[in-house]
Amino acid sequence: MKIDILTIFPEFFDGVFDVGIIRRAKLAGIVEIDVHDIREFARDKHRKVDDRPFGGGEGMVLKPEPLFRAIENLLGTSDRSEYEEGTHVVMLTPRGKPLVQTNAAAIADKAKRVLLICGRYEGVDERVMSAVTDEISIGDYVLSGGEPAAVVLADAVTRLLPGALGNEGSAENDSFSRGILDYPNYTQPREYRGMEVPEVLLSGNHEEIEKWRHEKALEKTRGVREDLLKEKGE
Ligand code: ADE
Repeated sequence: MKIDILTIFPEFFDGVFDVGIIRRAKLAGIVEIDVHDIREFARDKHRKVDDRPFGGGEGMVLKPEPLFRAIENLLGTSDRSEYEEGTHVVMLTPRGKPLVQTNAAAIADKAKRVLLICGRYEGVDERVMSAVTDEISIGDYVLSGGEPAAVVLADAVTRLLPGALGNEGSAENDSFSRGILDYPNYTQPREYRGMEVPEVLLSGNHEEIEKWRHEKALEKTRGVREDLLKEKGE
């Protein structure tokens, strides 16, 4: 998968994809991630990427020309109907659809090319949306820009690509992958500051362990995310 990120703050991404699973996926050729400075696609003398909103109001709005030019440079076109199959042009914005595990999994499953556009909190000229296939929000709060959201999305998708998790295990048991939160985990030592590892985990009885984990996952989900159980109809 190829991920391209369009941002006015390319330095935000320095080193962020050079650790852990993403780094390994990059080295293994599972994913390629390139960061592009939107300013490089501005043609005027001052490389202007934003301007005041028509109609008045606070802040600055990202101009359409550099963004269209960047999309055309990377994809050969900014006409959605001409994008190659498996191409997603994503605008990261609090106005988007909330990112959930199933969207991340769908992108990991089908997408070959993902272009992530980091908006600013003041906004992006609405005409850019004609070139966008998905508007995604990472949650109901406002960030100063889409950059942290682009990192979140790139991470959530990359770790689901075949081979990305290597020997560290599969994504099957992750929180959300079965629609509920993960069960609690324990490692050595068996007793720490008077807190014991639950007996069942030491029993070697896999059926009992599975049952306990499922109960604990449900208990946790009921406690903090009852909405997930309602979605599942439990
Ligand atoms: N940009 C600003 N806030 C955002 C959010 N919550 N999700 C995605 N992009 C954003």
